[in-house]
Parts: sequence; structure tokens; C-alpha cells
Amino acid sequence: MGLFDKEQVILVTGASSGIGRACANELVREGATVVASGRDARKLEDARTSSSYPERWHCAPLDLAGNIDRLADWVREQRQKYGKFHGLLHAAGELVFDSLEGLTPDQARKHFELNFLAPVFMAQAFARKENCHDNSSMVFLASISGEHPEKGLLLYGSAKAALIAAVKAMSQELSIRGLRANCLSPAMIDTPMLEGMRVRLGDDYMRREIARYPLGLGKPGDVANLACFLLSQKASWITGQNFTLDGGEI
Ligand SMILES: NC(=O)c1ccc[n+]([C@@H]2O[C@H](COP(=O)([O-])OP(=O)(O)OC[C@H]3O[C@@H](n4cnc5c(N)ncnc54)[C@H](OP(=O)(O)O)[C@@H]3O)[C@@H](O)[C@H]2O)c1
Repeated sequence: MGLFDKEQVILVTGASSGIGRACANELVREGATVVASGRDARKLEDARTSSSYPERWHCAPLDLAGNIDRLADWVREQRQKYGKFHGLLHAAGELVFDSLEGLTPDQARKHFELNFLAPVFMAQAFARKENCHDNSSMVFLASISGEHPEKGLLLYGSAKAALIAAVKAMSQELSIRGLRANCLSPAMIDTPMLEGMRVRLGDDYMRREIARYPLGLGKPGDVANLACFLLSQKASWITGQNFTLDGGEI
């Protein structure tokens, strides 16, 4: 028997790629039904058809950029279609490189909208009494950059740090209903996002970075295993935490 049953519906953002896709796959393998979101409807449908249980994988494309004001309606529509939620896994996000010198207010606003405001307002919509069961669980993809931002990750690191703080605060507010909220902060995980980093910083940089991981580069499944546990009732006394996954990085 898995961690979930098919009546347990989990909303997964970023499900068209990388970590979010691996989480959605693992959740259906563990018995849950997922409502899988991403920007690209075609990639979402590919992910659905290649999952082990496509009948418990529903596609719900949405571009979060510019749609924060619509989130409450969108979550309500998904709940009316698929039933009250038991969990939220928010993986949608984007890595941008910047420099203090070149930063523009517009770039900063856009970045914070996707990597900070979108998860916070997704949490607000999800946590409404009519949308989720009491004792539901939310898991957000932050990043090791939220605690240790490197050069070039001013916006990315700051947005993830803000997300970690917001999740701690919301966990306190929501605990009265038994609702839980936690963050995962991975170091380098082998996904299309990392490929963008390789293109930008080069193969030598990537080789040096990967050499710092005693257990090798992380895989999306490494993150999905912990996400599934935190979304399940096995983690019913765990909230307000930020879990580092770094393969022992030195
Ligand atoms: N990979 C790593 O090393 C790493 C490390 C630490 C933290 N993280 C975090 O983990 C999360 C997932 O990253 P990943 O590596 O799996 O990246 P990825 O493979 O590039 O996937 C990113 C996902 O976010 C979705 N997305 C991006 N912009 C969106 C928008 N405007 N509206 C809706 N969805 C949007 C993408 O949808 P489309 O495919 O449809 O565009 C995709 O499903 C991110 O929050 C990232 O910051 C990653």
C-alpha cells in the first residue's frame, strides 16, 4: 500500500519539468491523484502520458506570471473540478542570473512575482477552508541559495530566502487547523534548470561544482521522496521547517 489513496488530491505546480514532474510522478505511484500545473500544456500532457498512472494525473496549465490576481479563482475552479485538496507541492520557479550593477526595478519585480508572490498567493488560495481539508500539507521548493546565495544570484537567493521566512510564518498561522507548511532547499539537482546554468557558466565551472558533492549530483527523485513524505500523514508533526538536500556538499 502507498502513502496515499486516490481520493487524496494533490496540487502540483511546475509539474511539466524537473523536480515538480518527479514529485507528481512519485505522488501518483504512491496512490494519490494529482492536479498538475505548468506553463506549457504540451509538456504537461507528455508528462501525464508517460506517468505510470495517467488516469490519476490531471493537467491544469497556467502561466503564473501576470496571473497572481487570478490565483484564488483558478484554485477554486480546480477544486470544483477535482475535489477538495489534501496537499500542495509548489515547484514552479525560474533561475535568473543578475548583477547589482545591472539590476533594474522591472527585472526585480518580475522575479519576485514568480519566485515569491506566486507561492505565497498560491498558499493563500489553497489554504481557504473550502479548498483544502484540515490536516493538509504544503511543500514549497526554496533553494540552498536562500541561505547561501552566490555571486549572480541576488534576486534568486533573496526571493527564496523570503519564501523560507513566509513559509515559517504561515505554518504558525495555519497550525490551528492542523495545516502544515514546509520548504525544501536543494543544492544542485540534475534538471533542465541546471542545463541553463551550464550554458551560462560553462563546463569547467560545472565540473568544479559537481566535485563538491560527495554523493554526486542530486536527482529529481531525491527531492520527490522527501516531498512525498512531507505531504503524507507520516509527517503529521512536522511543520515550519526548511530541509536542506545537498548530498553532503562541502
Ligand atoms: N534544479 C536545481 O538545481 C534546483 C535547486 C534548488 C531549487 N530548485 C527549485 O526547484 C524548483 C523546480 O526547479 P527545476 O530544477 O525542476 O526547474 P525546471 O526543470 O526548469 O522546471 C521549472 C518548472 O517551473 C515552471 N514554471 C516556470 N515559470 C513558470 C510560470 N511563469 N508559470 C508557471 N509555471 C512556471 C515550468 O513550467 P514550463 O515547463 O511549462 O515552462 C517548469 O514546470 C524551482 O522553484 C527551483 O528554483 C531547483
